[in-house]
Amino acid sequence: ESLDARGLYVLPGAIDVHVHFREPGFTHKETWETGTASAAMGGVTTVFEMPNTKPPTGTLPALQLKLQAAKKAYVDFGIYGLLAEDNIDQLEALIDGGVAAFKCFMGNTFGNLPSPPTGAMLEGFEIIAQHGYRISLHAETASIMARREKKLKEAGRHDPLAHLAARPPVVAVEAVSRAAVLAEWTGARIHILHVSSADELRPLRDAKLRGVDITAETAPHYLLFDEKAYSDHGSVIRVNPPVRELHHQEALWRALADRTIDMIATDHAPHSAAEKHADDIWCADCGFSGVETQMPLMLTQVANGRLSIQDYVRLTSTAPAQAFGLYPLKGALLPGSDADIVVVDLARQDVVRSERLQSIGSTTPFEATPVTGLPVHTLVRGRFVMKDRTLVTESRGHGRSVRRIQNMPPASPRNVEHTIAAVTRSVPAKSG
Ligand code: NCD
Ligand code: ZN
Ligand code: ZN
Repeated sequence: ESLDARGLYVLPGAIDVHVHFREPGFTHKETWETGTASAAMGGVTTVFEMPNTKPPTGTLPALQLKLQAAKKAYVDFGIYGLLAEDNIDQLEALIDGGVAAFKCFMGNTFGNLPSPPTGAMLEGFEIIAQHGYRISLHAETASIMARREKKLKEAGRHDPLAHLAARPPVVAVEAVSRAAVLAEWTGARIHILHVSSADELRPLRDAKLRGVDITAETAPHYLLFDEKAYSDHGSVIRVNPPVRELHHQEALWRALADRTIDMIATDHAPHSAAEKHADDIWCADCGFSGVETQMPLMLTQVANGRLSIQDYVRLTSTAPAQAFGLYPLKGALLPGSDADIVVVDLARQDVVRSERLQSIGSTTPFEATPVTGLPVHTLVRGRFVMKDRTLVTESRGHGRSVRRIQNMPPASPRNVEHTIAAVTRSVPAKSG
């Protein structure tokens, strides 16, 4: 097949390391078929999918169920294994079974997976560090939020802004700092998901300076919304962590420029319209669809001159490929790379319409947002999955696990030996 790309840009496909496809367990919100169709339409050629499904991806049988569901994928994928208190003895089996990274929930969010105590996290980090896989963290401290939320409810707060009040920046700062210390002491590679505040940037920078292998992402909603979103969008904007005041948004843009934040992911978190719309903010599900809107929204920032096309490619493709061991096979247009390609029209205008998204739970606070810049064709390993803005349904099932090409050598052995030696050092027996 030939392709006329006159006037268009040829970019490496986006790699979104933070999506929730809900299957198995919550298929009224999303499925692997619809989630990856959304990715294909959005110019995203690889996704990393989160473990808060039913069952959670914390055991080998659960992983096998997920791999079965993923057989309908249009695009390539990595599967996150869960790191929790009750599955430390399953981590090696999950690695053998083919997970591409791990996810640890330090705070409550959809699925209500309990956050592991620090001791269990440390043990999990030690085990995973020996295999090199990156551990992505939902870095919000559960116990701080639980107390805040209880007080707000007692005070009768049920409005959208109460969600922001329950999760002040310290909730994330405490969790990022603690995760970075555990990574430092174990040599584990970590990734901070959905950075939402100016305040998290200091522990992030400090950890990078100390030599911790730590990467971070933010998402389009933190870059494009501020606190006005609570009056504009009500419960639809409810997301963990919350969208914050304008000065946080501005700090996140600066952190992209100075590389404190390494990449943009979407936290694609679809829910049904009924689950997103609630009079009582505490009853609305958190998160919204995002994998299909990232590229148009962020290319619009390229069109506005806020982001260069080179930085856009680094933030959405090269940096995630490097952090998760897919470089240079994905995330670059270099000899030897996969032909994971998106052809974009930087001048094409459109308007975000939830009803036109492939996602099932397609409710989005970006509804009716005008955009400039659209993916026109998406190719995964040389094959069209989207052509002329149309999903190529024959490519359903073309997606493969990226684990087969991943290269994640064991993390810094110096640090790993340090902690393991401290734990196993034999106490000399007393003589005489
Ligand atoms: C996510 C979900 O719905 O699975 N929700 C969210 O608000 N971001 C979970 C998460 O990433 O915390
Ligand atoms: Zn999260
Ligand atoms: Zn998420």
